Amino acid sequence: MPIKYYNKTNLFHMFNNEISYLFTILENGQLGQLYFGKRVNDKEDYQYLSERGHRDMQACPIGDNPYFSLEHIRQEYPAYGNGDMRYPAYEIETSDGSRIVNFTYKNHTVFAGKKELTGLPATYVEHDEEAVTLEITLEDELINSTIVLSYTIYEERPVIARHARFHCDNNQGISLETAMSMCLDLPDKEYNMLYLAGAWSRERHVCERNLEYGTQAIYSMRGCSSHQFNPYLVLKRKNTNEQAGEAIGFNFIYSGDFLGQIEVDNFNVVRILMGIHPNEFRWKLNKGESFTTPEVVMVYSDKGLGGLSLAYHNLFKDCLIRGYWKEKERPVLINNWEATYFDFNEEKILQLAKAAAETGIELFVLDDGWFGTRNDSTSSLGDWYPNLEKLPEGITGLSRKINDLGLKFGLWFEPEMVNENSELFQKHPEWVFGDRRRHLSKARGQYVLDFSKEEVVEYVYQMIKKVLSEASVSYIKWDLNRAFSEVFSNDRGKEYQGKARHKYILGTYSLYERLRKDFPEILFESCASGGARFDAGMLYYAPQAWASDNTDAVERIKIQYGSSMVYPICSIGSHVSAIPNEQVFRKESLSMRANVACFGTFGYELDITKLQADEIQVIKKQVQFMKKFRKLIQFGDFYRLRSPFEQDYNTAAWIVVSGDKKEAVFAYYRILQRPESSYDKIRLWGIDEETEYLVEEIRDSVLEAEKLTSYKHYGSELIHIGISVSDYSSGMKHIAKEIQGDYLSRIYYLKAEK
Ligand code: DGJ
Repeated sequence: MPIKYYNKTNLFHMFNNEISYLFTILENGQLGQLYFGKRVNDKEDYQYLSERGHRDMQACPIGDNPYFSLEHIRQEYPAYGNGDMRYPAYEIETSDGSRIVNFTYKNHTVFAGKKELTGLPATYVEHDEEAVTLEITLEDELINSTIVLSYTIYEERPVIARHARFHCDNNQGISLETAMSMCLDLPDKEYNMLYLAGAWSRERHVCERNLEYGTQAIYSMRGCSSHQFNPYLVLKRKNTNEQAGEAIGFNFIYSGDFLGQIEVDNFNVVRILMGIHPNEFRWKLNKGESFTTPEVVMVYSDKGLGGLSLAYHNLFKDCLIRGYWKEKERPVLINNWEATYFDFNEEKILQLAKAAAETGIELFVLDDGWFGTRNDSTSSLGDWYPNLEKLPEGITGLSRKINDLGLKFGLWFEPEMVNENSELFQKHPEWVFGDRRRHLSKARGQYVLDFSKEEVVEYVYQMIKKVLSEASVSYIKWDLNRAFSEVFSNDRGKEYQGKARHKYILGTYSLYERLRKDFPEILFESCASGGARFDAGMLYYAPQAWASDNTDAVERIKIQYGSSMVYPICSIGSHVSAIPNEQVFRKESLSMRANVACFGTFGYELDITKLQADEIQVIKKQVQFMKKFRKLIQFGDFYRLRSPFEQDYNTAAWIVVSGDKKEAVFAYYRILQRPESSYDKIRLWGIDEETEYLVEEIRDSVLEAEKLTSYKHYGSELIHIGISVSDYSSGMKHIAKEIQGDYLSRIYYLKAEK
């Protein structure tokens, strides 16, 4: 069992072959953090890690002992009271207004496997042998309440999953004001903080900063995980790169408001807190009630950021994504949004679908505008029945006709929203979040339905279920197109309001869960104005997520590169769209657009009926390529080779390698043609040094006179010397247009020679 408790030294040691996590019961009964990192030997005494200096002037929780100051001791799950002046992991207010608590060790249990977190997404095990869980109960006798801290260590992964459960047996109840999912106190500050930040259409850009004294944070108070910050933080040593060096990742398995905060105290101790954002959160627990925080997954890597990402990708593919689509290659789809927006009828849709079917595309997705009287964004959200003017035989008839063309059929919903101009709103104006005595802001013409209320979720569930039961739907795109601005749950009273935002997310999860159970073979893709809810919480329900409304290839390299920091390639929704691009008006070749989009779930989002015959031929080749390589690309081991976030972004590269290292697909992108550029090589990674590979360039259009590059190299050459990506084409007019000029991309297939 890799979780040990040493009675004599009060030491807990969780370990496997890769990592160790050590903490102790302090003299005052609270828990002290000792170490998280590379595996160290298992032994009874690690007390020396809890260093004590003589600290006069500090609060002394034990007598007058100046050596025992909680301000200076690294802690496991700290609270206010007893002298710790840093931000606490939780805050509780009792009925008399006191916020001083003293939860001390009561007992613990260790068991094989991992429990579900009821109503919440969380990592899981398929067999109990895959992980061991430690639950420690802390108790504050004065307020008759307990906290259970749960830690699961996976046997063969550098992963610890954590959450906390609060329970109240106090007659007056207690109020949770802050309930973070985890805290980690690290002994030094020689790290950089890496995080994913952005905005609509430039989500998840990789950012890095030094740690400074005081606090630095990522957060969302928008009701969803947000375009602005992803709920993921990394602490990396300053010299850590993609292939080497230490890094610790913290991912919050949750889709609502969050806070990821790093506090550096004046003794260089670093405190990481992650959990539900305390702003607007207040959860009253009455006698007999409990509250469970969502889960945080901590991963340690000594193999650089690449090793960290790989551990997260594997964890999310194996132990978070569930169900029918878990290991299945994702269908190549076409979506009508950028082709038609709201302006379509059945005839137009069938024309698109017919042209798509002829290229080998497998799934047609009907986006926004098929329901109620929706012809723009001002009406009908909430009225989930087909617009018979546009679709005379409804979704049932249309889906049958699409199936007859040899395509599966997918459908867009935005279940959590409502327009004022809708039957739903007219019937139930009180089902909207907001104080009805005040102005209520619309965003994109819509309001947020109060999904904290079961009756609202039930109503929407029944409408969606009816459509899905009658039609032949294989895929759902589940959208959410606004942030929450005035959250107030009508008719629920004061105490409820601090719960409303979290209960909303639980309502969303419950609707997902019911629909998943009713229609287990439907592939769900989550979406939120592009990538505002691209988080691990969603992946538990929807195995893929629309990465961004920005489908420009140059921008997508950055977005997909950033997303790959933590999320697996099979989860990254990516499409080829028309030129000029709708977001940045750039014009890139069809090849460049597909060579970026194929590192994801892959599909098209353009009016295919308007393309020329030669473009259709190219699309056919691209679809063939994707079908041949998608298993490898979506489920292989992904490594980033060159970052688009380095100064002077002009090139980027990545590779995906099969588990047995016998195959790989390598992609290189060059944005602008530069005159007389220097020689350039990209060193590959992840392949086997001793294997000889046949390296072949793959292109979707090849001129007759042209011969594509193909050569043999040992893995060691490709890793240590690299593959040449030198740009010889400037000023050479006879070179094929596909390999000259701006926005160039190259894809190579590597196959082990026998
Ligand atoms: C936002 C999404 O990101 C788009 O792909 C599209 O589905 C629109 N919403 C439809 O309103």
